[in-house]
Amino acid sequence: MVRRLNLPDNASVATPGQDGRLHAPSAERNAGPITDLLRDVAPPRGRALEIASGTGQHIVSFARALPGLTWQPSEIDPARMASINAWAASAALPNLMPAQHLDATTPDWHSVQSGQTLIVVINLLHLISDTETRTLLHEASVALVPGGRLVVYGPFLRDGETTSEGDARFHASLRATDPAIGYKDDFDVVDHLQGNGLSMVEVVEMPANNIAMIAERR
Ligand SMILES: C[S@@+](CC[C@H](N)C(=O)[O-])C[C@H]1O[C@@H](n2cnc3c(N)ncnc32)[C@H](O)[C@@H]1O
Repeated sequence: MVRRLNLPDNASVATPGQDGRLHAPSAERNAGPITDLLRDVAPPRGRALEIASGTGQHIVSFARALPGLTWQPSEIDPARMASINAWAASAALPNLMPAQHLDATTPDWHSVQSGQTLIVVINLLHLISDTETRTLLHEASVALVPGGRLVVYGPFLRDGETTSEGDARFHASLRATDPAIGYKDDFDVVDHLQGNGLSMVEVVEMPANNIAMIAERR
């Protein structure tokens, strides 16, 4: 895939902090609600892969809250990988692995990431194209063990429409940057999940107009 470097300023905000740790205000805000969700829907034991771990703030919270899972962060961006490792070093959790490089839109990545009990992808689909989204969802579904779960979180179109002025502006700014990217339609994503051998478990409304989709490999 093309790594998009010219996204709008608010697409992926992170500022440098102590010891190489980047801080994303949005990750700080939604880490609590997403961690609470995972406490409810994640399998208790096994291997958990996070795609596009960003600064690493989320996965530290997840690994602390769900110690029965071994958490593997991954990223496309080397600067973010360094931040993930800095957050992991400061947390010193035995179930949190060093970051791995992963372009989640590359065909066949499941062959090096197979056997996952849980895969989590937060705030990425609106930054990639439809084709890349289909590749990502396919690869994630085949990387799961039977009974394994995929959690997809982010902003989505609801039946083709944005649901607030802020979402409409953000979606339009993404499209202006690259007509191939922008919010994905919730029904399309559910169709892709089901078409890849996953059953929908639930769709949860999250703060700030986001949705979490939870699907399980049959
Ligand atoms: C909006 S940030 C979200 C980060 C984190 N998940 C969060 O919610 O705080 C998007 C992240 O996706 C990463 N990313 C972009 N394209 C990617 C790809 N093809 N594969 C994996 N990660 C990607 C970026 O480097 C960035 O860290």
